[in-house]
Amino acid sequence: MTSKIVELDSVWLILAAVVGAYAFLFGFLKKINEWYYVIRLGKKKHSSLPPGDMGWPFVGNMISFLRAFRSQDPDSFINNLVRRYGRTGIYKTSLFGNPSIIVCSPELSRKVLMEDELFVFGYPSSLTKLLGKKSLHGISNSEHRRLRKLLVAPINGHEALSVYIGYIEDIVISSLEEWVHNSSPIEFLTEWKKISFNVITKIFMGSADSFSESMAEHYGLILQGAFSPLPINVPGFTFRRALEARKILVSAIETHLDERRCKKVDDPKIKKGMIDLLLEAKDEDGEKLENEQIANLLLGFLFAGHETTAHIASWLTIYLHDHPEILRKAKEEQEEIVKRRPSSQKGLTLNEIRQMEYLSKVIDETMRLCGFPLLIFRKAKDDVEVNGYIIPKGWKVLVWNRGIHKHSEIYPNPNEFLPSRWDNLKPKAGSFIPFGAGSRTCPGADLSKIEMSIFMHYFLLNYRFERINPRSPVRFPSPSPKDNCVARITKLP
Ligand code: HEM
Repeated sequence: MTSKIVELDSVWLILAAVVGAYAFLFGFLKKINEWYYVIRLGKKKHSSLPPGDMGWPFVGNMISFLRAFRSQDPDSFINNLVRRYGRTGIYKTSLFGNPSIIVCSPELSRKVLMEDELFVFGYPSSLTKLLGKKSLHGISNSEHRRLRKLLVAPINGHEALSVYIGYIEDIVISSLEEWVHNSSPIEFLTEWKKISFNVITKIFMGSADSFSESMAEHYGLILQGAFSPLPINVPGFTFRRALEARKILVSAIETHLDERRCKKVDDPKIKKGMIDLLLEAKDEDGEKLENEQIANLLLGFLFAGHETTAHIASWLTIYLHDHPEILRKAKEEQEEIVKRRPSSQKGLTLNEIRQMEYLSKVIDETMRLCGFPLLIFRKAKDDVEVNGYIIPKGWKVLVWNRGIHKHSEIYPNPNEFLPSRWDNLKPKAGSFIPFGAGSRTCPGADLSKIEMSIFMHYFLLNYRFERINPRSPVRFPSPSPKDNCVARITKLP
């Protein structure tokens, strides 16, 4: 009898210990971040912070963030905030090791992206380490303005880009022919990365020849390292591999620069590539730019310019093939363009690309739906007041594109692929920002759209696409099919 009472007592004791530990864990540990980051701001600021939760010590909300993205329901992270705190469009959180404010309303996103005097670039320091301190990421606002003007000249506007249409066509046509003759299915996303990498090296480096395919792979490693949850420079870690990839790329670019210094631009079709403009450019003190800075700037452009386009182009192809009626309309538009073409004309013209109105809507709808890029990072220069809330000095501000592009009040039936929604839709400022906004707006927007339009022209008219694993899960946070979109490409009869 006594031993039974003792046994019961121990059960109660264990239960009490478990409940106690649970209460400690959730009641105390969960408050540590809140105390650490929030309370030390002082009562006035503290009570004016947006709603939200600072997560666990050290990891913040990274676990629930990653869990949401691994669950194949990435919107659950933001939906959870909306459910708990209401549709304020602004929430406090702790992500990527920093106290942060998420903004996901058009008005707030626009303010954050447009007001450079209040917000500066705020990407994880791992990305700046990988792209270099003297890349577009690491320099002051005034130097950024000056260099950006110079850098975007070769890709600014359709007119400047019309020079490259022939090059892009050559790369696209030869890639398509190669895929058709491949005996086994191809990884469509990987192949697209090669297309966009070749296009961009041709435009920016003047030649793609000295850039082998492995260079594109090194860029893939940089992307993985830039957003790795543990950016540690230790063998075996993703970040270490990314740093090694950076070293290889910088050295390859510097070699190319040295060769280029000795050569003149000998191709009369290309006016002057970015590399030539940079070799001639001078800094604020009138000195020529050093090899290292030019290499960092080029590295950044090549990095920003090929993964992005390849991802969007892959989703564009997937969505079209999942929606036969939309595919048919897009194809008809391309047939019409060919019908109107004089028989003497070879290849596409800029004017024809401008006539691809339906395709342009399909591309916009793809960018809205696929959720790439997920986030744009900024940092508050000072305490900033918005909508009655305070964004404290030094906190990161995460513009959550995906939350805006999937907002049901802006885009009814947000999860449906409906290019027709763009027929009469003029998105309010800040509500469609796949290329960002303000002084850092993507300078490659026109180039990427032209690239995709040229590809789709030839692809829709002449080829058939068949995914081998149409149910392949999606990898996040940069959404892409886990199997890299394995597909068979065949020629239409
Ligand atoms: C569909 C494809 C693309 C998407 C969705 C995209 C998206 C973006 C976004 C959202 C930004 C703004 C980042 C910020 O404000 O922090 C950006 C910046 C940038 N993009 Fe793109 N991009 C694409 C293609 C390209 C291409 C083809 C190039 C190269 C020619 C390029 C080069 C850049 C550069 C250099 C920046 C930084 C600009 C600066 O800091 O001034 N992008 N891109």
